[in-house]
Parts: sequence; structure tokens; C-alpha cells
Amino acid sequence: MTDDPEEAAEVTPYEVSSKFGSQDDYDRLIDKFGANRLNEDLLDRLRSHSDGELHQFFRRDIICSHRDFAQILDKYEEGDEFYLYTGRAPSGDLHLGHVLPFELTRYLQETFDVKLVVQVPDEEKFLFKDGLTLDDTRRYGIRNIEDILALGFDPDKTDIFFNMDYAGELYPTAVEISRQITFSQVKATMGFENSTNIGSIFYTAMQATPAFLGSVQNDENKHCLVPLAIDQDPHFRLSRDVAPKLGYPKPSILHMKFLPSLQGRGKMSSSKKHTFVGLRDSIEEAKEKIDRAKTGGQVTAAEQREKGANPDDDMVFQLMAYLLVDDDDELNELYEQYASGEILSGELKQICKDYLEDFLVEHQRRREEVKDNIDEYLVSNTDQIDW
Ligand code: TRP
Repeated sequence: MTDDPEEAAEVTPYEVSSKFGSQDDYDRLIDKFGANRLNEDLLDRLRSHSDGELHQFFRRDIICSHRDFAQILDKYEEGDEFYLYTGRAPSGDLHLGHVLPFELTRYLQETFDVKLVVQVPDEEKFLFKDGLTLDDTRRYGIRNIEDILALGFDPDKTDIFFNMDYAGELYPTAVEISRQITFSQVKATMGFENSTNIGSIFYTAMQATPAFLGSVQNDENKHCLVPLAIDQDPHFRLSRDVAPKLGYPKPSILHMKFLPSLQGRGKMSSSKKHTFVGLRDSIEEAKEKIDRAKTGGQVTAAEQREKGANPDDDMVFQLMAYLLVDDDDELNELYEQYASGEILSGELKQICKDYLEDFLVEHQRRREEVKDNIDEYLVSNTDQIDW
């Protein structure tokens, strides 16, 4: 629990407070951002398009809020196609937390059978972080794309671009967008200082552009749905207001929670080694991180048998709930057994490690399968996306 609500609410694309993560924190952030909560009506409509069963992210409140999601469902139900857009700024390899928005995107593409564009802004972390060259971000970008594609996107309906390669197509729209956003808006929304470099200030226009590109490259307007982790919302908060000024529809957004750190408070983060499991970690390394994870168990086994553990405050249980265990009955049973003291933290960790091993082995197998084909997904220069 944090005692300083202002600090708890500190979430921008460039900084997430290391204490952030309780439901209260999300509730405050959603209100501060002016986002909307999903209601039963929207979930029912989505369920009706998903063979009656919603993805675990929706069943478990991991999608915390949205903007104009109803409009996407309206479009779809009227027989109009929308498209999906998300992205990844390379600065290192992907971890399990990064999987969340891409897995949501994969599910949405499968459910609605729609086009997806993935932006790989290889300039973003170059501008925002010290010590990375453009060659570094490019190299990580390739590795990131391999991991992203391993999650399983429709090869006929997925286009990926590096900003550096696709800048010629993006730039005219980015300029139009940037004309409508002031420095003081960006400064306040992103938490910038006067000493922030000017590339960073313009960058938000580059990130917003693909949400308009479906309309720019087509004769008719195309609605865009952007699945993202909630820290990315500020970019779209700035650019959604610009859309009508340029004659385009406002992009719709689905916001996801962060995968919690294995160490408790805060999100899984590449900069803190024992908080994350990487998609390229060895099985051994991954298991070792689970062994070190913070649990909601008691100090002694005897005490835990008697009082039970707290699965809500157990990072191993949380990882299973967020990502690894799809079956609700199975997860609920584990919850009961763990909360009642029937299973101990060591046993829960073993169960989690088995799931994690299956996940990683399967992921690595798929990555090997796709990694030589990534050129088929890449667009560059003056390539038009096949909408
Ligand atoms: N800024 C994102 C990151 O740091 C990358 C990104 C680009 C993105 N375009 C996006 C994320 C659209 C979500 C939606 O990884």
C-alpha cells in the first residue's frame, strides 16, 4: 500500500511508480485519465462475437478500462472493418509483462479477423534512454519482432514496420498531428522538463500516426482499436482530440493492467532482474526467478497449514492468474487450496514452474519457426499497407 496517492498515480509512458499496482491505484488512474470501465453490456457484446467465451484478460479484470470500445463493436456489427494497432519500442528483450498487450491483440485479431499494424519505434528508446545507439535498438527490434510473431498473428493480416524504415509514409501525418499539439500539453501529459530533448517532444506524433494511417492510406475512414498497457494512454489522450480536426475518427483504446513484479509492488521491469521472467531466459533461470518470488505465505509451514496463504498478495499465484492458467475452474481450485492451507508456497511454486516451462518451451519452439520469415511481415519505404 502506498500512503501518498499523488505518488501512486504517477504513471506516464516514461515512468511508472515502483509502488503502483493495487486496485485502488488503477481506480484512481482510470479516473484521472478520464477512461471508462468496461460494463456488462460491452462484455456481453464481445462475448457474442467470441464463441461465447471471453479471454481470461476480460474474465479477470486485467483489461481495466477503455475509450470508445462501443464504437468498435458498433462498426463491426454494422459490417464495417476496423483495424488493430499496437507497438513495441525496442531497448532490450521481451519479458512476460510485454506479452500481455500482444496476447490481447492476438485474441482480438482472431476474434474479429481484422488487420493489425505493429509499430516498432526504433527511435523511441534512443531518444529517451542513455546508452543505446540506433543500431542497438534496431537489433533488439528484430529480436522483439521474432518474439512478438511467436505469439501467433495472422500472416495475411499483419504488417510490422520500424519507424526508421517507414518514416516517409508516417511523417506527413505526424507533421499534421504535431501542428495541433502544444509543448505545454506534451510537457504536462508526459512529465517533461525544459531540458527534455526535442526529439522526445515530437515523438508522440509518431506514435499517434498509425492510429490514423488506415484513414490516410484509404479513400474512406477506418476506425482503429489500440490495445495497450495503461501507461501508453497519454499518447492517445493527446492525439484523440486531434483526430476530428484532421477529419479522421478518434481511435478506440483498450487499457491493460501491468503484469505485477515477481517481487511484489510495481510492474515487471527489465531494469530489475528478479522482477521479471524473460522470453529468452533459460528454463533454469526462469524457475530460479519463481523460487525467489514474493509469496503470500506464512513464515512457517505449520502456520501456513493452519492459517492458509493470501493468493491475492502472492506473485506466483498472480502470474498464473494473469497469464499462465486459462482454465477458471483450475485456477479457482488452486486459490481455495492455497488460501485454506492445503497447499504450501513451495508446492504452488512447483505448479507455476511447470506451467511456465510449458509456456516457454512452446514459445521458443514457435519463435524458431517464425524467425526466418519476419521479412514477410515487414513494410518499409513507400510500401502501402494492404488494408
Ligand atoms: N511506446 C511503446 C513502448 O514503449 C511502443 C508503441 C508504439 C506502442 N506504438 C504503440 C504501444 C501503440 C502501444 C500502442 O513500447
